[in-house]
Amino acid sequence: MTQDDDFLTGRIARIPAPDHDADWERLTTQARIAMTRAYVPYSDYPVGAAALLEDGSIISGCNVENASYGLTLCAECTMIGALQMAGGGKIVAFTCVNRQGEYITPCGRCRQLLLEFSAETMHVRTAKGATTLEALLPESFGPRHLEMNDLETR
Ligand code: THU
Repeated sequence: MTQDDDFLTGRIARIPAPDHDADWERLTTQARIAMTRAYVPYSDYPVGAAALLEDGSIISGCNVENASYGLTLCAECTMIGALQMAGGGKIVAFTCVNRQGEYITPCGRCRQLLLEFSAETMHVRTAKGATTLEALLPESFGPRHLEMNDLETR
């Protein structure tokens, strides 16, 4: 059984290297601030998301709902838009929180959105501890499958 399997059964919380600890706190604070900007008239469930990029900068986002319900943008979605607008970059650490400040795990669609901009070693902080995006989205289809000259092969 790999460490990732252990994480998925909830038996251990994977904690990243100690020098990440301060980053998790900083990142969680930014996710909580972003959560306060959420537009959630339908679910009343605000979410804030924050990502630490390779260059040390932090990008955040909040959920923006829609009367059609189905067109609701998750917090990860607006965050990814903000990331690209800010010049792009690779995510090394990510977290998202609800109104109570509790860590929530990204929905399936958002895991795919995160993959697009993830650094190879990207970690996600969840209620059970930190894990990898690979553990949350195994055997994924991503940029590496498309042979495009302007995309890094990974
Ligand atoms: N939501 C997010 O923003 N991110 C997730 O990963 C899960 C769900 C939002 C969508 C909707 O506005 C609300 O949470 C309730 O589903």
